[in-house]
Amino acid sequence: MKRPDGRKPEDLRPMEAKVGVIENATGSAMFRIGNTIAIAGVYGPREMHPKRLEDPEKSVIKCYYDMYSFSVPERKRPGPDRRSIELSMVIRNALEPAILTKEFPKSGIDIFVSIIQADAGTRCAAITAASMALADAGIPMKDLVCAVACGNVRDTAVADLNKEEEDVELTTDIPIAYMPRAKKITLLQADGDLTAERFKEALKLGIQGCEQIYELQKKALREKYQVSGEMIEDKD
Ligand code: CDP
Repeated sequence: MKRPDGRKPEDLRPMEAKVGVIENATGSAMFRIGNTIAIAGVYGPREMHPKRLEDPEKSVIKCYYDMYSFSVPERKRPGPDRRSIELSMVIRNALEPAILTKEFPKSGIDIFVSIIQADAGTRCAAITAASMALADAGIPMKDLVCAVACGNVRDTAVADLNKEEEDVELTTDIPIAYMPRAKKITLLQADGDLTAERFKEALKLGIQGCEQIYELQKKALREKYQVSGEMIEDKD
């Protein structure tokens, strides 16, 4: 099957990742996949406000997803809406299993993700960028989290749907977030019908895609933390 932009079913769009893009954040990162661009900034661990929300056992993770007004063809009204509140929760829940929250009791970790350009798959790009930003902030994690949307378009399983594909009638979009070392899925959603067979195929492509994204995340982190010309050893 020919995809609108000429990709094969398993192909991801061209990607770019950079760590350390916001001077004032504890950690930050940019991730681009095709025409979708996410910027993430992590602040903390820091004192919780209001104090009554602190947890004596662990750090409280908060996530704020925002899509810029100019990120989509039809101007989006600025500020939070139902979609951004839901996506903030979904992104937070996909990242939390990787974070060793018990290392910082009574503190808060705030994750801000801005989508500056959107062409489908923004929640996944947000997770990928935020995970690199958490690592850049020096927050201990079990694993990085990488994410990509896969799905079923015209009865074919594909990886990394763009907006044109997402808009095809009866398309099923399946965003996946994955911890590659633990081989655990931390987000799995599906917004349409599909057969068990197509689902399995899509899931396989999604996990393969996440593994490619993982390599890029590690490369971007190494690029920032390269010490006097030598790469930090990969302990895989
Ligand atoms: O972005 P993601 O696929 O995670 O979430 P979605 O809610 O399924 O949105 C799919 C796509 O619709 C976004 O990535 C944008 O390209 C587009 N969109 C838009 O054009 N205007 C909006 N107000 C919201 C989304």
